Amino acid sequence: MAMTLDVNGKPLSVKAAPDTPLLWVLRDELNLTGTKYGCGVAQCGACTVLIDGQPTRACVTPIAGLATAKISTIESLGGAHPVQAAWVKHDVPQCGYCQSGQIMSAVALLNQTPKPSDADIDGAMDGNICRCGTYQRIRAAIKDAAGLTPAAPVLPVAPAKV
Ligand code: FES
Repeated sequence: MAMTLDVNGKPLSVKAAPDTPLLWVLRDELNLTGTKYGCGVAQCGACTVLIDGQPTRACVTPIAGLATAKISTIESLGGAHPVQAAWVKHDVPQCGYCQSGQIMSAVALLNQTPKPSDADIDGAMDGNICRCGTYQRIRAAIKDAAGLTPAAPVLPVAPAKV
């Protein structure tokens, strides 16, 4: 049975069964492949999208409950969102796999808390795991996007000549 989902501001008809996780509908049916499959059990955050503005793990969210929800994926940011610009400026992504989810969590944080404290950032980003360890750069980029000065440089310093 078809249902309509509001994805990135557009009503889109999908045919998947109601218990299908949103992640697979986004990727396989709607070809929105920016949202990644990480662990499949809501433990890593790679599949984070926004549902009614709240960061949500798409891998464990059946579409059945989303008939009236507003779903936003990484594609909704268009590549020029201030958070994405800060991510580029601070060279945040390494392998990149987790970064769609990281960015969506950061966007939700800044939408709700435009000038976040370190504790706010820790709380909002806690569920997004990065196997490459980009956490310091993520923090700096979030602060930059918020117009706050990052606490310390996070890029490596060239060794002194002897
Ligand atoms: Fe590789 Fe985060 S950039 S897992």
